[in-house]
Amino acid sequence: MHSNEFEQTLVLIKPDALKNSLTGYVLSQLSEFHTGLRFAGAKVVHVTRMLAEEHYAEHRGKAFYPALIEYIMGLLHYPDEPHKRRVIAIVYQGSDAVKKAREIAGPTNPHVAREQKPGCIRSLGTLVPLKNERGEEIGQRMDNLIHASATPEEAEREIKLWFKPNEIPPHMRIYPVRRCEEHFYYKDDQLFTEYAPGSVCLLAPGDVAWATDIQALKMILQGKTSDVSLRAVAAKYLTNEMCDEC
Ligand code: RTP
Ligand code: MG
Repeated sequence: MHSNEFEQTLVLIKPDALKNSLTGYVLSQLSEFHTGLRFAGAKVVHVTRMLAEEHYAEHRGKAFYPALIEYIMGLLHYPDEPHKRRVIAIVYQGSDAVKKAREIAGPTNPHVAREQKPGCIRSLGTLVPLKNERGEEIGQRMDNLIHASATPEEAEREIKLWFKPNEIPPHMRIYPVRRCEEHFYYKDDQLFTEYAPGSVCLLAPGDVAWATDIQALKMILQGKTSDVSLRAVAAKYLTNEMCDEC
């Protein structure tokens, strides 16, 4: 199959990697010299509960889900230091970006990673037992240092969740964008076209937005169901603007 040199993937350097000063190691493993992948976007993100829940929506209801959300929010590695709770979000671009980043990350479970692929990034991760109120083990938390999108379709969903178009240079954007023609305000899981006290402006006329986000916001205003939820659109505009404790 013809490979797509513009393919993109989302990599997150998670709180355990930051706490253990493994950022430089991860970046060098994924460097253009080793992978042929280029940076298309990069930022430091304070992960709100809304962003965490949207990112890991597929795992809602599983035993490890609450711990997973607390992990990606940095609550577990920095319980008393909110100012250190962050992840580094990076969009990589290049042929087979999704596959290459997944290969270097390695298997999800760090023990499996050590057995099957010594040397991969996740072979440096940790397993933490999860217990219920009675102290019985109910599963494991997998502190595996990085996230990498599983498929090109997931990469699109995730990149649009974590990044605004103007955080990616115009020539590197691969998903359609549109200029917004109206105001969209958000407050308490509701969407408004005019300012309501306490609301946050998600988009204003002239702003460049993902075409699918504008389409979703219009459908939500009309009371129709949309593939992209309001929270999935709002989460990235509230990123580094609000925190759960603010
Ligand atoms: P990721 O999304 O973080 O790149 O990881 P992945 O595709 O390899 O694994 P996925 O199934 O999407 O799981 C997402 C994250 O949830 C935690 N996990 N724990 N205890 C468990 O059985 C379990 N399974 C998954 C891991 O932290 C994983 O990275
Ligand atoms: Mg995954």
